[in-house]
Amino acid sequence: MPAPHSERKIKSSRFSLIGCRTDMTPEQNQTLTLTGPGTPMGALLRRYWLPFLLAEEVAGPDCDPVQVTLLSEQLICFRNSQGRLGLVDEFCAHRRVSLWFGRNEEGGIRCPYHGWKYGVDGRAIEIPSEGEAFCARVKLKSYPCVERGGVIWAYMGPADLQPAVPEFEWAMVSPGQRYVNKRLQNSNWVQALEGGIDGAHVSWLHRGALANEPMRIGSLGAKYQNDAKPRMEVMDSPTGLTIGARRSADGADDYWRITQFVLPFYNMIPPYGDHALHGHAFVPIDDQHCWVWTFTHHPVRDLSADEHAALQSGEGIYAELIPGTFEPKANRANGYLMNRADQRAGRHYSGVPGIAMQDASLQESCGPIHDRSRETLASTDTGIIMARNRLLRAARNLERGEQPPALDPQSHHLRSASFLRPAGIPFGDIVDEVVQAGAGPGLPHMSI
Ligand code: FES
Ligand SMILES: [Fe+2]
Repeated sequence: MPAPHSERKIKSSRFSLIGCRTDMTPEQNQTLTLTGPGTPMGALLRRYWLPFLLAEEVAGPDCDPVQVTLLSEQLICFRNSQGRLGLVDEFCAHRRVSLWFGRNEEGGIRCPYHGWKYGVDGRAIEIPSEGEAFCARVKLKSYPCVERGGVIWAYMGPADLQPAVPEFEWAMVSPGQRYVNKRLQNSNWVQALEGGIDGAHVSWLHRGALANEPMRIGSLGAKYQNDAKPRMEVMDSPTGLTIGARRSADGADDYWRITQFVLPFYNMIPPYGDHALHGHAFVPIDDQHCWVWTFTHHPVRDLSADEHAALQSGEGIYAELIPGTFEPKANRANGYLMNRADQRAGRHYSGVPGIAMQDASLQESCGPIHDRSRETLASTDTGIIMARNRLLRAARNLERGEQPPALDPQSHHLRSASFLRPAGIPFGDIVDEVVQAGAGPGLPHMSI
């Protein structure tokens, strides 16, 4: 039974970290960021279900095989003739050619080089030149997959420790209440995650662009977010962190925005008014690339056709993609479509249009793996420091045999929130009420 927030350690960061340097060494930075086979963080991430494809990428039986790189492992995903999902080693067991060239037909994927054929569990089901005994010895590495919430998830950890399938609200609501997409980011997953839980940058970097966020228009929160000096408060939660950004509303009240960080890489972004909720997952492809998933859902109604169209076209926190790919149209090669006139005029505070690419451009600018030993952290970075510590602690504890947090699907039944409370009320006095209020299926969210 998790302790209520009020019994948990409360970290208030108003002044305590100003000018502090992080204690993070280059070695700790490696431990935090690298997720390939044999790494501590890789071992931790392999204990969770990982969202890695949109369901439409493997739309039906005998679909085209899809090349997948996940946690630096090269794999192939396909559905067999019965519609069952397979995620197996990309390279044929025979002479290691890519099964992306494979023929996916009649219950398995056949390598076109010499005709070896594999089932969704990676077992060879036919080796034309050899006998049955030879065939029975051949098996490709394979991982279980499931479909939920319009997304394909993989489990790459020990078979006997496979957890139940995640129950994040966006994945459990009806398809009409949800929109999901992903974009490629050319950076390590941790710097993307850190941007996702950094509530302090919103009033700066996204100033201007926020005015056009379709899931924000007309809300009271949009007005109060103009206070560019939020006070950040962070608490450990059983699943990760609960992060509060307090801004002055009108003197008598504080405007609170509550972000949830759920291990290993999810965030839940505070909503505005009756608009839908957003969240992200930052999933490592390899150490220098990640998928930035974006999930939008409304707990009690379908998204309107206009909302759906806006998200699909890359508005708000979604990026406009190059058609037929998950690569953003604005990218390093074209300067992220930087517009200095817009920068000067304040239409886009950094000059880069679009919330998603404002984030991605700066996160990619740090280099593929950001060197955390050279930072100068400030009071607004408390959430980021604590998230790093939670991840490192979970990886260390796993090496000692302790189970990772947030494996139980019940622990995914969380929401972000935004609300007003009388000025000066301590974070610890409100957080239990707001996080639990309305966090049930079919109940409206807490949002102004
Ligand atoms: S390399 Fe695949 S069958 Fe020979
Ligand atoms: Fe951002």
